[in-house]
Amino acid sequence: MKDLIVTIFGSTGDLTSRKLLPAIAKLYQSKQIPEETLILCLGRKELDTKSYLKAMNESAAAPLDLKTLTKIVDYHKIEITDASDYVSLLTYIKKNRHNKTKELYYLAVGPELFPILSKHINQSKLVQLGNLNQSIIFEKPFGSDLKSAKEINQLLWQYFDEKQIYRIDHYLGKEMIQNIMMVRFANRIFEEIWHNRSIKNIKIIAKEDNGILGRAGYYDTSGALKDMVQSHLLQMLSLVAMEVPMSYFSDDVKDEKVKVLSHLSFDQQAIVFGQYAGYLDEKNIPKESKTETFVCLKAFVNTPRFKGVPFYLYTGKKLSAKESMIIIEFEETNEQRKWKLPLSTNKLLIKIDPLDGVGLILNSKVPGLRDNVEEVELEYCANCEAVGNMSEAYEKLLLDITEGHKTLFTRWDEIELSWQFIDQIKKMQSEPFIYQSELEIKQKVKEVIGEDFI
Ligand code: BG6
Repeated sequence: MKDLIVTIFGSTGDLTSRKLLPAIAKLYQSKQIPEETLILCLGRKELDTKSYLKAMNESAAAPLDLKTLTKIVDYHKIEITDASDYVSLLTYIKKNRHNKTKELYYLAVGPELFPILSKHINQSKLVQLGNLNQSIIFEKPFGSDLKSAKEINQLLWQYFDEKQIYRIDHYLGKEMIQNIMMVRFANRIFEEIWHNRSIKNIKIIAKEDNGILGRAGYYDTSGALKDMVQSHLLQMLSLVAMEVPMSYFSDDVKDEKVKVLSHLSFDQQAIVFGQYAGYLDEKNIPKESKTETFVCLKAFVNTPRFKGVPFYLYTGKKLSAKESMIIIEFEETNEQRKWKLPLSTNKLLIKIDPLDGVGLILNSKVPGLRDNVEEVELEYCANCEAVGNMSEAYEKLLLDITEGHKTLFTRWDEIELSWQFIDQIKKMQSEPFIYQSELEIKQKVKEVIGEDFI
């Protein structure tokens, strides 16, 4: 009998090989999940467990821990539209569970399959409405616009209790994103100055050097705005801009994030859509595609705390490096203004990826006989050795699901408001600017939005 059963639908995909299996192996190795764990990987392909793991290992970003995975993974073929396959699945699961087994059903599939899968999962009684030992997990994107997201959500609420539903945004599992509230609320020096009287602007950046990595089918219907801004960037923004929550329990934190999302607006004149040169030559991308692989926009959070402070959201593929960071830029000091000193402003850097840490940019005297000033950085590096923390994010998220912690998952109203905002921007979409390099796109951003980016 198993204490934990994780059933993954769509288990032959990229997400499972690159993120889920490495995370599960680490959790098992470090004894964070029970000794008696079963990972049921489901897919359409006719494979046995050994050949499944071999194929996954070949498509993984780094070699998988096959020794560990062989102990716990079991691959099964399933036709997701065939009700009888769910019956056999249930029979199999019943043989492996006792009345306290935690069951996770992970839908590592596109949102177009959420309805059919949810229906079968419910009708076959694989997951029963209200059984809190059973959780159902949805990967982003949750819908492709407000309308489709609402439809999906309505359907889910017919079949599952909100307490059973986990909507993943893996950025929330990243170490430094979990740290945003800590940096803000546990440090007097920041708590005191976290408002529009002291903050000049905020940049939320998620750059990637990779292209679309063969995900043409999904990406071309999505683009950077829906793929990154709707989820990851707006989540970061809401954590940076929220008020102090009543408590740090999940719903209190979400209530504050939702208030931020409901006060968002954007500057219609300050948006750049870009597409990397060569995107149209990627396999399965239509030759006339206008999908953006880059977007930068100027948004505002119209709350008393942040009214008037520009939030620049900047994300794209095939840029100079992989880097996710939040930069909070403070106003000049009175002395700087009075004497018109050409000094830099203070900046708080929240570094998310590939290095996790915090930096603080200050002005300081250059040591020596003259009164020269230089910009210096006080740096805290949480994990300088860790390059790329993707699977760590998934480790944290999976662990939280097994323990029933919901803070790092998105609630429906957050998703609803994010789509509402994105749908408005989408209407403003223009032909993308074709960029060969990040330098070109930065120049374009400077011209249209008037802001420099690192
Ligand atoms: C995913 C997007 O949600 O996040 C991808 O679908 C993107 O297009 C990825 O590459 C970026 O995540 P990370 O953790 O590598 O910054």
